[in-house]
Order: sequence, then structure tokens, then C-alpha cells
Amino acid sequence: MIGRPIPHEAAALHVTGRALYTDDVAARTPGLLHAHPVQAPHAHARITRLDVAPALDVPGVVRVLTAEDVPGVNDAGTKHDEPLFPDEVMFFGHAVAWVLADDLESARLGALAVEVDYEPLPSIIEVTDAIAQDSFQGARPRLERGDVDAGFAASSHVFEGEIEFAGQEHFYLETHASLASIDDDGQVFVQCSTQHPTETQEIVAHVLGLASHQVTVQCLRMGGGFGGKEMQPHGFAAIAALGARLTGRPVRVRLTRQQDMTMTGKRHGFHASWKVGFDDDGHLQALIATLTSDGGWSLDLSEPVLSRALCHIDNAYWIPHLAVDGRIARTHKTSQTAFRGFGGPQGMLVIEDILGRVAPTLGIEAHELRRRNFYVDEQPTPYGQPVRHAARLDRAWQQVLDTSDFAKRRDDIASHNAQNPDSRRGLAITPVKFGISFNFTSFNQGGALVHVYKDGSVLINHGGTEMGQGLHTKMLQVAATALGLPIERVRLAPTRTDKVPNTSATAASSGADLNGAAVKDACEQILARLAPVRERLAPETSWEELVRTAYFDRIQLWAAGFYRTPGLSWDVSTMTGNPFKYFAYGVAAAEVEVDGFTGAYRVTRVDIVHDVGDSLSPLVDLGQIEGGFVQGVGWLTLEDLRWDGSAGPSRGRLATQSASTYKLPSLSEMPIDLRVALLEHAADDGAVYGSKAVGEPPLMLAFAVREALREAVAAFGPDGAAVELASPATPEAVYWAIQATKARAGKAQV
Ligand code: MTE
Ligand code: MOS
Repeated sequence: MIGRPIPHEAAALHVTGRALYTDDVAARTPGLLHAHPVQAPHAHARITRLDVAPALDVPGVVRVLTAEDVPGVNDAGTKHDEPLFPDEVMFFGHAVAWVLADDLESARLGALAVEVDYEPLPSIIEVTDAIAQDSFQGARPRLERGDVDAGFAASSHVFEGEIEFAGQEHFYLETHASLASIDDDGQVFVQCSTQHPTETQEIVAHVLGLASHQVTVQCLRMGGGFGGKEMQPHGFAAIAALGARLTGRPVRVRLTRQQDMTMTGKRHGFHASWKVGFDDDGHLQALIATLTSDGGWSLDLSEPVLSRALCHIDNAYWIPHLAVDGRIARTHKTSQTAFRGFGGPQGMLVIEDILGRVAPTLGIEAHELRRRNFYVDEQPTPYGQPVRHAARLDRAWQQVLDTSDFAKRRDDIASHNAQNPDSRRGLAITPVKFGISFNFTSFNQGGALVHVYKDGSVLINHGGTEMGQGLHTKMLQVAATALGLPIERVRLAPTRTDKVPNTSATAASSGADLNGAAVKDACEQILARLAPVRERLAPETSWEELVRTAYFDRIQLWAAGFYRTPGLSWDVSTMTGNPFKYFAYGVAAAEVEVDGFTGAYRVTRVDIVHDVGDSLSPLVDLGQIEGGFVQGVGWLTLEDLRWDGSAGPSRGRLATQSASTYKLPSLSEMPIDLRVALLEHAADDGAVYGSKAVGEPPLMLAFAVREALREAVAAFGPDGAAVELASPATPEAVYWAIQATKARAGKAQV
């Protein structure tokens, strides 16, 4: 079963609309109350008066939830900097109260009727303003190795620069959703679209002043999470649970797209300043950089996201001397959070931007500059972890060069560019090296529960959540393989905190590694107990007969499995250790064609070779690679979050609140020709059945598109022109980059 290209376990349900999501369950729940937020129209303000009485006069309104209703802790996070009901508004759209009503429209009208007086306070919207005003939050990690002064002394070329780049909206198809009910014993049951049911359980419990065993959280599946449901669901689940507790009726919270976009955290945008040194051969000698992430109003996952950014600023490159400082700006925006790659993409953008920018000045082609700086096997990263299997990256690189016909197409492009005055093509190739495991060692554990019933059928439960990434499919394959059964004999039950407790978020791409090993462990325990029974039976005895015999022998036919990733270490104070079980590698080559008049472009062809070890589920992995890549292209080239930075009354308002103004990649932006191959002979002995994690790393393959755009823009100017490119490199940004390039060439068009 392992390694077979089977469809996603719920694909048929997804495409026929029969798959149940949290809010589908709400729709069939009788006596339901609907919750609607009262959102503040200020970026930063003190609440001076809150009067809910007028809302209670609205027909259908049952109750208004405010801070006074909280029996436990008024906090939606784990850092205690995230009041569930604030007395100080921290971003435009912050929910200050929630209205419960018999139907959603009444709740909406009730929310409009709530009277709130605000005393506006000064606000910080831009990360550069936060830096200027010294507005930071959380830890300030420093990653350091070698002697940067010596590194710069040994450098014949030194460059300095800055870049500020944008965050990204998750835009999962299913917005945040929670449904809470109370059973006859006062127990709280919350169905929630969450990547981290255990933490949702803990937050609901602390808000309600209950113990964890009184709260059960279930996640059927998510219509996408992408990191946006790692911490952000907790507050909404707590609102639903609080409402249910106070009214005795089931309560549903389901955000509209606009509410979701204006209330929930996004990928962190970053500001980076850097200084880099190279020797005459283009070998990196030294890098100093300061990375400032825009954390928004509260910390949530900003600290670990920043750690991962620092741990990926090297990407695939050996940098002998390095000192990188990280800090988190506090701004009056949504609380920025996990997003596929978890800071890794932001760290890598910095080094890829540097290499793309300086290559022309060094007189080395960018692809050659990149390859020259690759790690060789066992060279240590700046945090001290040896880079195992670095040669696999060389192999993937060579495979992409060969199968994409890279050299010949570069020649073709050069002649195209020479012959066409108004169009330029670019072809770039970029690597990915991404560390797998949670930086924080303790989170690297997984659990599972496997039941074999008397008829031989198998039910599995594990601690991971399904968000479309195919984790459940892989877990079914693992169980079927471990037990030696056809996959039809195995069924998977929804993720619940009363089945597998104390789980980690399904995140860091480690879902299959952790839970897969736990499922396998449980299956192996059962097989070990069956072995003596099997010995007594004839060799051709069926599984069903074996199980039946074992039952009558009073053999335990179910098991709890557990796994903790061995060999990990991480010291957050020195930013050193072996935080990752292994690295996932990938390489992409992308070709683009840019129109010189408008900056509009097309991605004409992309070739990818990606390392998933021995794939557990090749179709699922292919989908992850394609989806991750396209999501990365969206971040780097299309998706443009705009906050109102004016001094007017809408200061701090997210101007791009829906799909009409926030451009997502769609079918029309897909590369015309997209070729994805899995790296062969790539088994990894560290993870379950030789596989490697696939969820996040492919997102960073999209740098190839950004770098191809840079090359195409450069081709509008003289040879050797360095090009600075904004991120996202929207057609508008590309247009301005072309203008700058032409201006330098002395042929600017007016
Ligand atoms: N794929 C789909 N279809 N939907 C998602 O929400 N999330 C990504 C990735 N792939 C996501 C996805 C993120 S951010 C992570 S961390 C991983 O899936 C989590 O799942 P895994 O650990 O099982 O790979
Ligand atoms: Mo993924 S950003 O680790 O949920």
C-alpha cells in the first residue's frame, strides 16, 4: 500500500460535496445560535464605553458576550498577550464583543446596535515605522558563527542592501469555523476547524475555567489551513464554547471571508538589511543581516516563525562567517502567524534576493553563483547541524538542468531577447533546503490509537489533522502496510482530543512523520501480540481467522502507538543544535516572458525535481508539490496585501478584504507547461518507510519564478545590470523595475 499512487482518501467526497466540514455539522444542529463579532473601526483605541443593551432589543438576539462573561482567563492565546475581549483595540477590525442570535442576520443587526465609544490612540502600521519607534515584542534571537570581520577582510566584493517584502493571506477555502455544545453533564464539545485540537482544547478550558478533561475538541477536516489554523482558531472556539456554556444552546462561529481577512493573522512580511562579502570566485565569505518581522498586534507564533527564518537564511549555501539578528515589530495589524514554510521562506528570500541582485555585478551568472556556494556533505549550518545528504541537492540540480534543457534554452532566450525590442524572457534555477521537525524539540511527538475488531476490520485514530494535504490517506496506507491488509479493511476516524491526547499541531510538515510512526508503532504492537497465535495456526490462515482466534485467547487487539523523533536538540538561547531530523531538498527552473510596455508576464514553463524520500503516496505528494509551488508563486508575484497607511479615519484598515482586490493564483496563472518529478533513490532512513515530509518545502521552489522575472527585467538593460525587484513582483512592480533598468541604460521611455 505504501508508495502506491492512490487518490486522496476523501477525494470523491470533496468533489461531490458530501465531505462534512465543521459548518456542515452546524447546519444540521437544532437549536443553534449564531455568533457575530462587533468589529472596532480603529487601528488603535481605548474602549471608553460599551453598551450592549440596544442589541438585546433587536429581535432574535439572545445574548451579547463581553469580558464580564468570562469565568476563566480572558485570553485567546498561550502568551497571555491576546485578550479575547480587549479593553484596548489593537487593530482595525478587532472584535470587542460577540452577539448571539437565533439567526445570523439578527446577530449581524445586533452587532450593529452595540454601542461602543473609542478614544483613538496613535498607531503604527508600517514595519519601518515600528523600527523607527523601537516598537518590538518578544525575543531578539541572534544566530552567529565564525568571525564576520575576518570574513569581510577576506572578501574582495562587499555589498549592502535592504529589502522589505510582503506577507500573505492564507485564503483557505473554508474560513474559520467552530461549533460548540454542552452535553448533559456540563462537558464541552467543540468541533473546530483547527490544526491544533489540543491547544484549542487548552484555550477553551482556560477561558471557561475548566480542566482539559471537561473539554473535547474534534476536527473532522479542514478546507485548508496552511498554518492559518495553527493558533488562530482558539479564540473563535472559545467564543462558541463560552456562548454554549452561558446559553445552554449550541453556538456556531463561522467567519465571512471579509471577517476572516480582517481579523485573522497572515504570513509575516519582513524587513531585512544586509551586508555580504564574496571572494574573487564568488564564494560567500560573510553575511550580516537584521531581519525584522512584522508581528502585528500580538506574538502568537511570531517567535518560532522568526527562529525558522534565521535557520533558513543560509538556504542551500555554505556561509562561513555569519551574524544575523532577528526581532519582531509590534504593529497595529492582525497578529501575523504561521504560514506554509513558517518563516523559512522569509529567511530564504533574503539570501536568494542577495544572490540574484549581486550576481551581475560579480560577473557570474546567477545559476552558477548559486551552485558554487552549495553545501557539501556534512558541512555544518550556521546553527551547527551537519547537512546530511547535501549531494542529493547536486543530483536534483543536475537533473533539472538536464531535463529542462537549461543550457540550450538559455541560448534560445538570448536570441529571443536580442530580436524582440518589447519582450524579454528569463530562465532561472533555484534550490530549496528545508529542515524538517519543529525547532522546539518537545513538539516532535505523535500518538495513535489502532483498534482491530473481532471481524478483522481496523479503525485508526491519530493525533494529526486533515487539511487537504492527504495525511489521512497516508495514515491509511501506513496502517494497511504495517498490518499487511488491503486498504479497504482500514477506516480512519476523525481527530479528537479524547482519543489521542496532548498532540502537537499538525504543522512543520511533520504530520506524516510523527503520526505515521505512531500508527506503525501501534500496528507493530498488535502484530507482536498476534505472532504467537499465528505460530499455532496453519500458514495459510486468514487474517480474520487469526484475529478471531486471538480474541478467544483473550489477546488485546488494540494498541496506543507513540513516537518521538530521536536525536534532536535545540538551544533557543544560543540558537544552536540539531533541530531537524533531516533536510528536504528541491530544485526548480522557471521561464517567464515579460512585456516591456506593461510589466505583464506569463510563466511559460517550470521544471521541478523534488525530494520526498521514498514517497508514501506519490499522487498526494505530487499534489503537494504543485500546490505548494503555486502558493509560493502567489506570495512572490501576485498576492498584494495593502493596509491603509494614511492618517485618515480608515488608517490601519485592510484595503484588500476579498478576492476582488486580493489577487490569488488561479488556473490562468498556472505555468503553461509544468513538469514535476520526484527525486529518485532518495530513501531517508530517519522517517517512516523511508519517506520525507512534503507539505511546506515545495512552496519555496517558487523563488525560481521571482529570479526568472529578475533576469527578464535585467535583459531590458545593459549586460551586467543589477536589478532590484519588489516582492510581490506584481506586473506593476515588474513595470517599475523595467523602467529603472531602462533609465540606467539611458533609454528611459517617457
Ligand atoms: N495542503 C493542503 N491541501 N492544505 C493545507 O492547508 N497546509 C500546509 C501543507 N500542505 C496545507 C497543505 C502546511 S502549512 C503544512 S505544515 C502541512 O501541509 C501540514 O501537514 P503535514 O504535516 O501532514 O504535511
Ligand atoms: Mo504549517 S505553516 O507548519 O501549519
